[in-house]
Amino acid sequence: MSEINEFKILLIGNGAREHALHWKLLQSRFCQEIIQWPQGAPGMPQSSVNLPPHSAKVSELAKFAIEQHIDFVIVGPEAPLAAGIADAMADNGIACFGPNQFCAQLETSKEVSKKWMQEAGVPTAEFSAFTKSEPALDYASSLVAKSGSAVVKASGLAGGKGVFVCDSQAEVESAFSQLERRFADASEVVLVEEKLVGRESSFFCFIGQNKDQTKVLPIGFAVDFKRLYNGDEGPNTGGMGCYTPVPWLPEDAESQVLKKVVEPTLAHLEKLGQKYCGFLYVGLMWTSPQKPKVIEFNCRLGDPEAQAMAVSDTSDWLEAIAFLLDKTDSHSQIAAKPKPKPVVNLVMASQDYALPPGEKPARLPAKPFPQVYLTGLGSAEFPKCFFGGVTVDHEQNVLPKGGRVASLCYAADTLEQSQRGALVSAQKLKENYWPQVHFRTDIADKAKMSLTRFLEQLAE
Ligand code: AMP
Ligand code: GLY
Repeated sequence: MSEINEFKILLIGNGAREHALHWKLLQSRFCQEIIQWPQGAPGMPQSSVNLPPHSAKVSELAKFAIEQHIDFVIVGPEAPLAAGIADAMADNGIACFGPNQFCAQLETSKEVSKKWMQEAGVPTAEFSAFTKSEPALDYASSLVAKSGSAVVKASGLAGGKGVFVCDSQAEVESAFSQLERRFADASEVVLVEEKLVGRESSFFCFIGQNKDQTKVLPIGFAVDFKRLYNGDEGPNTGGMGCYTPVPWLPEDAESQVLKKVVEPTLAHLEKLGQKYCGFLYVGLMWTSPQKPKVIEFNCRLGDPEAQAMAVSDTSDWLEAIAFLLDKTDSHSQIAAKPKPKPVVNLVMASQDYALPPGEKPARLPAKPFPQVYLTGLGSAEFPKCFFGGVTVDHEQNVLPKGGRVASLCYAADTLEQSQRGALVSAQKLKENYWPQVHFRTDIADKAKMSLTRFLEQLAE
């Protein structure tokens, strides 16, 4: 039998996405130990060592990684990438799966990202960038007058709350007043874009180098639902649920996105003297079956998409990441990629999540949470459950704390069955334990509708 390296990993981040990553990495035969920073929510595996404080700087995390003899670091969220965690690790000789600060601008600066897309010939919405709000407002108003819509975005990181899709002059004005009020730093630069009309999906891949060659390992597509309520109504959220794989995509969707988007972007970064390493999230709008356009890049997996992909894709992610960091030559996934399992992920959110302060309802009491959810068994009856905003009471019962509380991922033979399974589980959870959680019941309702039909409906 060939010898297998086992790796000690530092996993950065502690939301439901990182809970899923933790669960996924732990199954790998390449896994020796995972230390998670910051400590995961109750219900997640807890680190056995003293962790650096929440406020730790990236240089302190690099020092910690050295002390703990970490083989490599895997970064879940965007904030540590923006703070330069990959650079700090590289300076200390520690491999990191996550791009350096320069490449992370694909996500951290929408202005830079759009400029690179233009330079690399990647299809995306027309845009202009502004540093003053007056000309930006004038330009957005002229777009609305001409085409009936405009999209206004803060260039910097805004936690998914810096984008306004406006279909009237009043919405443009409201967007600008909110940008100025809420995103003093992030909105130093404001982007105004044409509105893309089509059907949205996102694509995920892992990128790195093996033997000095850039390698891209596609993971797959998902559809995320960003609005709080059914029918895509209500305020924007980080994501209320998703499904994967995506049955309505053209057969060559993956090769189209690789050829038209991922490869030119990586080639452009190489021209700039940079090599991308880490997760890549491509947000796409299919304006026609042959025309995916990029809405945005993120340098991480999506939340809630990562949870669904981790359940759906049965390949060994740790092996893939070790391969891309040149830590192993072995890579079984290259030979035969397993068929993805249909998964629906329903996000349980606290009842005041994403609502403006004046509209927040009073909290209802929660009951003890059943152990089977805690361990995330994923049996036929219970889905995989990944925790985000939860806390524990004095008896170690898990209670919803706030925000997006948990992700229920249900895998079955078809998306319809997965949707049904997830809904039944979510309903049981709400009725029996957590009356205050809110979830959408229409995730994957339209998964079977063809792209052509969907686009026809939009045009009607
Ligand atoms: P982002 O944070 O850039 O992903 O934007 C959040 C959401 O706004 C996206 O998922 C889209 O639904 C929408 N969006 C952003 N840019 C555009 C655009 N140019 N046209 C249409 N919708 C957009
Ligand atoms: N679910 C969308 C995101 O993670 O940005």
